[in-house]
Amino acid sequence: MTSLAPRAAKRLRLSNTPRSVCTDCRRTFASSVRAQQQQQPASSQHARQDEKTTHFGFDTVAENLKASRVAAVFSSVASNYDTMNDLMSLGIHRLWKDHFVRSLNPGIRPTTSAQPQGQRILDIAGGTGDIAFRMLDHATNINRDTQTSVIVSDINPEMLGEGRKRFSTSPYQAAGRVSFMEANAEQLDQVESNSIDLYTVAFGIRNFTHKQKALEEAFRVLKPGGVFACLEFAPNLNNPVMNAVYKRWSFGAIPLIGQIVAADRDSYQYLVESIEKFPSQQEFAGMIRDAGFLLPGQRPEDEVVKAGWEDLTMGIAAIHKGVKPA
Ligand SMILES: C[S@@+](CC[C@H](N)C(=O)[O-])C[C@H]1O[C@@H](n2cnc3c(N)ncnc32)[C@H](O)[C@@H]1O
Repeated sequence: MTSLAPRAAKRLRLSNTPRSVCTDCRRTFASSVRAQQQQQPASSQHARQDEKTTHFGFDTVAENLKASRVAAVFSSVASNYDTMNDLMSLGIHRLWKDHFVRSLNPGIRPTTSAQPQGQRILDIAGGTGDIAFRMLDHATNINRDTQTSVIVSDINPEMLGEGRKRFSTSPYQAAGRVSFMEANAEQLDQVESNSIDLYTVAFGIRNFTHKQKALEEAFRVLKPGGVFACLEFAPNLNNPVMNAVYKRWSFGAIPLIGQIVAADRDSYQYLVESIEKFPSQQEFAGMIRDAGFLLPGQRPEDEVVKAGWEDLTMGIAAIHKGVKPA
């Protein structure tokens, strides 16, 4: 493993300069972006000088184009998404999701509360329903709560379609404990302010164009005392050598697995590039605080954000939490 590190570090240049992270990957991806661009009118291909831009993987695109690019990725991966998740993470995403849900302990024990209506959970970017299933299983089996319900929300109808399919034969669907909502996380007009007990987003927020806006919407829809919880990949592992090895794996293997299993290299190339562009744990915790949340473990007198997240598997992913002040 050690012998890989200098080569990987050289090839990937583990700096803040995204263009140098993986030249070969960037080249492959650039060609796919070009292919997509050829299908669009010339006027929409490039950001005009006066247009706001953002990143789409390692590419820079006009802000108003990012959502449709992301939509194209998830429409393309929807039918293979669950299998690919297992292959790419060697099954570890299941353990992270289990841990995420356990740490939130969804549901209300009937004996400990007079509230008969259970919790109202909003799972944003809920895709194929992995988190929603776990939430309902935990509430039902661990807390004996048969009232708690989940709204699975996603911008992408194909991903929601896969979720609907999975839930269609479940007792949760029959009991009306799960519903589906097509919406952009940045504008949740269908959700009333102060109406949600628990807001979750797993492996979704790094795809959003305006992450801060989504955090502000999370704050708005949560009840006072409600919890925001996010499970997301982190851009760098804590140990530099392991980081280099991991980058080698993710940039080398994941697009290749995408190509072999799903005949879709480019979408998986985007998914690994988007991880590089996501803020560090400390920066992201700062964004959650800026949206108005209290960070667990952060003292009010601390100016620098030092708390509010838990690293998973050497910092490959992290769980962030925030509480809306009561
Ligand atoms: C990697 S999948 C995660 C799915 C699921 N949460 C999981 O953990 O398996 C990311 C999801 O984010 C959704 N997404 C991307 N941008 C979004 C946005 N602006 N608003 C809502 N959902 C979005 C995609 O459609 C996709 O279903």
